[in-house]
Amino acid sequence: MKIAVIPGDGIGKEVMSSAVEVLNELVDLKLEFYEAGDEALQKYGKALPDETLEACKKSDAVLFGAAGETAADVIVRLRQELETFANVRPARAMRGVKCLYPGLDVVVIRENTECLYKGWEFKEKGSAFAIRLITETASERIARFAFEFARKEGRKKVTALHKANVMKLTCGTFRDVCRRVAREYKDIAFNEYYIDAGCMFLVMDPFRFDVIVTTNMFGDIVSDLVAGLVGGLGIAPSANVGEKHAIFEPVHGAAFDIAGKGIANPTAMLLTTAMMLRHLGFSEEAKKVEIAVEDTIASGKTTPDLGGKLKTSEFTREVVKKLGEI
Ligand code: NAI
Ligand code: MG
Repeated sequence: MKIAVIPGDGIGKEVMSSAVEVLNELVDLKLEFYEAGDEALQKYGKALPDETLEACKKSDAVLFGAAGETAADVIVRLRQELETFANVRPARAMRGVKCLYPGLDVVVIRENTECLYKGWEFKEKGSAFAIRLITETASERIARFAFEFARKEGRKKVTALHKANVMKLTCGTFRDVCRRVAREYKDIAFNEYYIDAGCMFLVMDPFRFDVIVTTNMFGDIVSDLVAGLVGGLGIAPSANVGEKHAIFEPVHGAAFDIAGKGIANPTAMLLTTAMMLRHLGFSEEAKKVEIAVEDTIASGKTTPDLGGKLKTSEFTREVVKKLGEI
């Protein structure tokens, strides 16, 4: 199996080294490395070089680190080009992580191909405009995905977040489609909140949520919010899935504030790698990675974002050691 690996910028490179180290311990995948991001833009004049895009299209999966200021031209574009319409972003409180809500386990299902992130912006006479695209087709596809996901994972409830009282046509379309799809899944509870109140409930009483389904930009914001409830971006993984392709990337970005210091938490990237392994059929190996990471953290060995002292490479070594014991 062929994996297009894109480390990207900033800590993307640092956490990708960990992922590669762990992958090499477990499976025999053909890892092919490609460039994209701010540095690629400097070097080639293109943030997402054609060669990288073509390779992604031909691979069995894409493993992505992070891009910097070019994120819109790289990862947002890749999701659209590869039609990975669903972005699955689990936020689970892990053993040993001090966080606001121990025991919390929610998943954000974010629509990935349209909304304001379509990038249709223009400026005229001092005014800037953005066009927000919400289609019934993409709304139905993501709503159905959320309910099917809930069923498959044994989850009980899907909550739609939108702002249909203000954005009557765009959010209204999304809401109406979610309601219609929900009626087909009698075994899964459905409710909805306006995004603003939903955020308040997420902070004050997140246990009322299970699976969240929302549009692209709200999903981007809410997925960082829920990551914050369980310990931060250092531990938040994600998968972008479509009919033909899949891209796996941590929720976080290039984190230039800590890049180059060797202290990034590779947990998000490693849990992302586990999601990729499971997608490729390596369920046992995926489980092993998850256990090794959680056991390492639970034993008090963590990076500074979780209150520990370990460097990225030291934490990775501990995870690899644990893998050997499982
Ligand atoms: P960010 O997600 O890179 O970082 C936000 C905060 O979380 C920072 O304080 C950072 O140090 C911390 N953090 C993130 N990941 C961490 C990890 N693994 N371990 C420890 N701490 C971690 O978001 P920010 O700072 O807003 O953006 C930085 C750059 O990344 C920008 O150029 C932005 O455009 C880009 N970006 C790229 C994304 C992508 O490629 N998917 C997503 C978000 C931002
Ligand atoms: Mg984001």
